[in-house]
Amino acid sequence: MPTILVLNGPNLNLLGTREPATYGSTTLADVEALCKAAGQKLGFAVECRQSNHEGVLIDALHEAGRGYKAGGVAGVVFNAGAYTHSSVALHDAIRAIEVPVIEVHISNVHARESFRHHSWLSPVAAGIIVGFGVDGYVMAIEALARKSAAKG
Ligand code: DQA
Repeated sequence: MPTILVLNGPNLNLLGTREPATYGSTTLADVEALCKAAGQKLGFAVECRQSNHEGVLIDALHEAGRGYKAGGVAGVVFNAGAYTHSSVALHDAIRAIEVPVIEVHISNVHARESFRHHSWLSPVAAGIIVGFGVDGYVMAIEALARKSAAKG
């Protein structure tokens, strides 16, 4: 069964208690369970990881790149949190691995502070899902499943 990696960046381990008016009350464990169920319906195993450390996220992307080349990984759903707005290193990692990466944000970053309007990830992402709450993760899994079917 092909695998989709769901990768969450800094502070997303605090989902459920962190600014619930912006991010809702669903915990990261709930999100991961939602993703696994969505993947299972579509015939994909879902592996979930979260890190507050940029280098650990880069290592996870490199590993996904090796998996994609070997044929076991179908793509990555990535909410890089605040690193979205600051990390050239994550931009470079996504560009290097040539894996479809769907950028996800729970909140509509474009309706928030101007420093959240720029993303270093968007130019190298296969697609972007923003502002649909945690449903965005499920939408991204569905998008990767479609992409993978189209690729054959
Ligand atoms: C976020 C939006 C980012 O601006 C913020 O730093 C986050 C979460 C979102 O999911 O809406 O940590 O990526």
